[in-house]
Amino acid sequence: MRLILLGAPGAGKGTQAVNLSKELHIPHISTGDIFRANIREGTELGLKAKTYIDAGKLVPDTLTMSIVEDRLQKDDCRNGFLFDGFPRTIPQAESLEDVLAGMNMELDAVISLDVPNEVIVRRMAGRRVCKNCGRNYHIVTIPPKQEGICDKCGGPLIIRDDDREETVLERLKTYTKKTEPLIGFYEKRNLLLHFDGTKDILETTREIMDCIKGQCAKGV
Ligand code: AP5
Ligand code: MG
Repeated sequence: MRLILLGAPGAGKGTQAVNLSKELHIPHISTGDIFRANIREGTELGLKAKTYIDAGKLVPDTLTMSIVEDRLQKDDCRNGFLFDGFPRTIPQAESLEDVLAGMNMELDAVISLDVPNEVIVRRMAGRRVCKNCGRNYHIVTIPPKQEGICDKCGGPLIIRDDDREETVLERLKTYTKKTEPLIGFYEKRNLLLHFDGTKDILETTREIMDCIKGQCAKGV
């Protein structure tokens, strides 16, 4: 299946993407994770992306499209993919359509995770991420077994640089202005599926799985 997870910062895209990619056996592609890995490794792409990310702005479309096009060429995308945090602008969504058409592919569904802003701000304040593998935790709702240590790889848990309150508010503004219009874009194409992202994590995963395996996704 070829899927997109759409939602505000902190809506739970990364959390759901981990579960869905396991269940569907498709790669989880997060442009944010790719940028953060490049920042950690100190690459040229990472250096360019960091100034935008730390300010709560979007990385320019051309830079983002180049990493997505490269990633789609990898063998593991032949049977599908799950984008998390991409596309984030109308030009990115249009470019994605062109790239997929060139590969004789089209999207099956766009999953929108709906979460009100006040819940988002609470979630971001408690989020911790593994410095090594990037896995997400929340100090109250999804704590690690041992405080400050990743359950999966034993790495240290840290606060993401862009989770400071003023940056979160800027990211939410950027989302409303640049990314929210994608809801209409994909509604017009009859691809959009809405889910309540405030429910329990596994319950949301189950609802999404039931829906995309059933009748509500195009071409399934
Ligand atoms: P990105 O990494 O994509 O960040 P984001 O969209 O801001 O979203 P987050 O990762 O913060 O949240 P999420 O929805 O994944 O939620 P999570 O599962 O972690 O992008 C970062 C930056 O990179 C952007 O600001 C931009 O600068 C740049 N960028 C990336 N892609 C780009 C693109 N395409 N174009 C241009 N620039 C781009 O959950 C959040 C917290 O809530 C966690 O603590 C989690 O444990 C908890 N939680 C999740 N679900 C639940 C639940 N159901 N109940 C209770 N707690 C929950
Ligand atoms: Mg994420």
